[in-house]
Amino acid sequence: MDAAVAEAESADLDSVLALLVQASLPTAGVAEHFAGFLVARAGGRVIGAVGLERYGADGLLRSLVVAPEWRGRGLGGALTHQLVETAGRRGVRHLFLLTETAAPFFAARGFRRIAREEAAPAIGTSVEFATACCQSAACMRLDRWPEPGSREIGIPSRRPDRADGSRID
Ligand SMILES: CC(C)(COP(=O)(O)OP(=O)(O)OC[C@H]1O[C@@H](n2cnc3c(N)ncnc32)[C@H](O)[C@@H]1OP(=O)(O)O)[C@@H](O)C(=O)NCCC(=O)NCCS
Repeated sequence: MDAAVAEAESADLDSVLALLVQASLPTAGVAEHFAGFLVARAGGRVIGAVGLERYGADGLLRSLVVAPEWRGRGLGGALTHQLVETAGRRGVRHLFLLTETAAPFFAARGFRRIAREEAAPAIGTSVEFATACCQSAACMRLDRWPEPGSREIGIPSRRPDRADGSRID
């Protein structure tokens, strides 16, 4: 079955919240920032998501999740790639994230671990930084933005193909 990444619609909110709860990820602030979310869909079902919280030229990537049965096929990479591309197009120049479990995943995609204090002050006001994500979470920043027109973020990530050979992102 094909999967495709697109901007989230308001009707996707409950499905995204369910995926986050299933993955034990924070849901606080998701509804407020849902306009910045992307979802992956297959067969009319939401099977993955990622969100962007915007703070001027700074952005927070959050809530990356893929349904368990869809993991390992490149969807997480595709969602990350598309979020980075969308953020860049919307004028975000510094992209941060917090993660407790997936630092190596993001490191392989161009993010570098930094001290929390190095994150832009505005990001510190986000719900994730302020309350939802525990102090032990790794803070990361995207250091290598894609070249204009590039389809890759940082180090190219493996992405699967659709049955017809087109990429899912
Ligand atoms: C992290 C997550 C989104 C990855 O989605 P995915 O669709 O499986 O990712 P991809 O298929 O694009 O990439 C798979 C690669 O990432 C690696 N990977 C997946 N999760 C990882 C993790 N938590 N830590 C390190 N590497 C991870 C896999 O080993 C695989 O590596 P390979 O390409 O060398 O084989 C998914 O595992 C998930 O939803 N996890 C639970 C929620 C979570 O931890 N989200 C991050 C919070 S910020």
